[in-house]
Amino acid sequence: MAAIPKTLSKLRPEVKNELPLILLHNIVVFPYSAVTLTIGRSDSLSALEFALDNDKEVLIVFYRGSEHEPSYQHLHPLGTTARIIEIFKTSDDKLRILAEGLRSVEIKKILFKKDIPLGQYSLIKDSSQENCEAAVTLVKEQFQGFAKIRQKKIPDEVVEDVVNMDNPERLIGVVSTFLKLEIEKFIPLLDQISIKKRLEELAVILQMENESLHLKSNLAERAKERMERTQKEYFLNEQLKEIQKELGNEEVDPSGAQEIRQELEKLELSEDIRLKLLTEVKRLSNSHPMSPESGVLRTYLEWITELPWGKRSIDQHDIIKAARILDDDHFGLEKAKDRILDFIAARQMEPKGRSPILCFVGPPGTGKTSLGQSVAKALGRRFVRISLGGIRDEAEIRGHRKTYVGALPGKIIQALKRASMSNPVILLDEVDKLASDYRGDPSSALLEVLDPEQNNSFVDHYIEVPFDLSGVLFISTANNLEKIPHPLRDRMEIIRTPGYTMLEKKSIARQFLIPKQIADNGLKEARVRFQDASLDLLIRGYTQEAGVRGMERAINQVMRKTSRKLLHDEQTRPGRWLVNSSALHEYQENTAVYNAPENTLPAVKGLKIEVTPKLVRDYLGNERLEDDLGTTGRPGLAPGLYFDGGGGGVLPIEAVIYDGEQELLLTGQLGDVMKESAQIALSYLRANRERFGLKMDFDKDKVIHIHVPQGAVPVDGPSAGVALTAALLSSALGIPVKEDLVMTGEVTLTDRILPVGGIKEKTLAARRRDFSRIIMPKDNKRDADELPMDIREQLTFIYHDRLHDALMDIFPPGAFPG
Ligand SMILES: Nc1ncnc2c1ncn2[C@@H]1O[C@H](COP(=O)(O)OP(=O)(O)O)[C@@H](O)[C@H]1O
Ligand SMILES: [Mg+2]
Repeated sequence: MAAIPKTLSKLRPEVKNELPLILLHNIVVFPYSAVTLTIGRSDSLSALEFALDNDKEVLIVFYRGSEHEPSYQHLHPLGTTARIIEIFKTSDDKLRILAEGLRSVEIKKILFKKDIPLGQYSLIKDSSQENCEAAVTLVKEQFQGFAKIRQKKIPDEVVEDVVNMDNPERLIGVVSTFLKLEIEKFIPLLDQISIKKRLEELAVILQMENESLHLKSNLAERAKERMERTQKEYFLNEQLKEIQKELGNEEVDPSGAQEIRQELEKLELSEDIRLKLLTEVKRLSNSHPMSPESGVLRTYLEWITELPWGKRSIDQHDIIKAARILDDDHFGLEKAKDRILDFIAARQMEPKGRSPILCFVGPPGTGKTSLGQSVAKALGRRFVRISLGGIRDEAEIRGHRKTYVGALPGKIIQALKRASMSNPVILLDEVDKLASDYRGDPSSALLEVLDPEQNNSFVDHYIEVPFDLSGVLFISTANNLEKIPHPLRDRMEIIRTPGYTMLEKKSIARQFLIPKQIADNGLKEARVRFQDASLDLLIRGYTQEAGVRGMERAINQVMRKTSRKLLHDEQTRPGRWLVNSSALHEYQENTAVYNAPENTLPAVKGLKIEVTPKLVRDYLGNERLEDDLGTTGRPGLAPGLYFDGGGGGVLPIEAVIYDGEQELLLTGQLGDVMKESAQIALSYLRANRERFGLKMDFDKDKVIHIHVPQGAVPVDGPSAGVALTAALLSSALGIPVKEDLVMTGEVTLTDRILPVGGIKEKTLAARRRDFSRIIMPKDNKRDADELPMDIREQLTFIYHDRLHDALMDIFPPGAFPG
């Protein structure tokens, strides 16, 4: 609280009803209300000081006029006595006080004592002496109405409090506080001494206020309504204009039905389908062109007219030409091509004959999708690919009913529209990625699509009328045969694309991918030469894959960077900077140079570009060294082989045996079948302790722990049996298996080795990991004999059908008695 200068003596007003007077022109103070006032006038400041020295009471009176004129003449008769509760000094030497209004009084006289204005007043008659009830009720009612219009701005408790209030002065104080009116509106109140009259004035003020608020909110409402209406009309009108513009004839055919009818007439439709569609056209022409129904109908009929009803491309029947096309597009893949040609021949001889659906199965990047494309080319048909990856909703195959908002036909019908022929090759890409859940089983919808008994009248939910799919040639692809839904698989003829050897990859690169990337990067006219060592480096150092996708990407990157470098060199070549000769003459010291036009391209024609290993490293960064699998050299380790949808790989298996409560612990990425293999391996060794020189109690009170640390790739299958046995035996003997040797084969309790799948993928993986010998089930020799020559030359195959014999080859001589 600011200190108040003690310039005045402690004068006491002689008359009891006399208080220091404070004049206000911007705020009205009522009893029962607390207000903050800023006092700046010097006379009011004196009065304040005087009050502070005495009993802190003041008389507050409202005057009309601006802040500066002294207006003791223009006072209103009604004043309020107030008590000062708190006082602060403001920065501009004014005082701010918090005051509480006490009671209303009538001002009688004003006098000055030593410059201190004092007001004499008389108390107003008690309200009980007047008959106020009616006025009080009126104020309360009006206030309730006011609170209602102001909605949540006045708390319910306040309204309740006001309604229950029985002190009229307080009622005036509280209601005025919440009214928050411009000061002018309160003036009639200040002219009334009688409390009853004041209440009546307040009721009038409230009523006026209510009416004006009511009017305002009505107006706002109406304005909003009008705005919305005009906006909507405007929007619809614009749409109408657009549509009419599209149709070009606003009067004749507002719905577009006429034109659609003409289109329908041209289509090759069966009579009952045409009749049904014409009914729809009629509905369209009868519906308002702006109605939602008309939009739905029009979209529907447009879909119908755009489908290739009965339209067929003419097949290419020349089988020699077909074979050439297949060879032109793909290197190798002899078996696949052969099978495709058989298939094509059969289709040509008897187009109506039942033929299975071809399904290309193999790791990514082995040419499945592009083979499908070639088949279409070889037959001279349109090609459309449908990616099935992640489709889990039957409606994606067969469409949504057209009553759905935003409904569309399913993928099959969409594909036919894209093909614009009714006999395209449709590639169902990645059928193994089909999912199914509560939204229905998409594979059963596909089954119907593929079934020659049913597919001549395939009904899409959206299209509603049957469409003949019997002319379509369906081909499918998958990474993983196991994951194709069984009923679908039964309908398919599997053609494998197991992956490529190093030599095959290099040929694919040389014959297909390098020329393609050269062309794609604008280097066709240059003489680009990929050194053999560069290609070797590129494949071994930057890719680890069964297919050629990564290789293609790497080649692309090398060519892209080459292209960019040429452009950069050309545009920064010193010789290309032209000196502006006139500038040189006039300002000798100012060697103004101008760059040649910036979009000049380098002269590529005949340019020699030699892709060396160094260049490959420059452009691709350092090669990734193969992470050492650490599969040999230590007891308890043996390298197996796996194969899955992604190709093949080497699977390191670890085993340790240590003291503890006897158990077999299996950890890592082992599927159930593999766990069983581990149990078989252990039982086999237990049963043949002596042959392998194992102590009677080699597993007694021991924990036997087998672990497969193969990243996050979950693998399963019985083919790691040999490797599991070898790892266990190695751990039990404390002797490492031979180096440079990898093994595959299923084992049984009775010392047999059974054949396994994925031989090509596995041998390719063994080569990529630089193994040179492979233990293989004898019954897989057939598969191995079909491997490409280069692989067979690089790997030594050791065939066994007895586990014991295989282990003899896996361990160094003398490791066990035998
Ligand atoms: N044998 C091959 N001869 C020529 N190019 C091939 C061969 N195999 C794959 N490609 C090319 O490799 C790329 C990837 O093939 P893609 O058909 O997409 O593989 P997938 O569908 O099996 O994953 C394509 O550019 C494809 O043309
Ligand atoms: Mg593909």
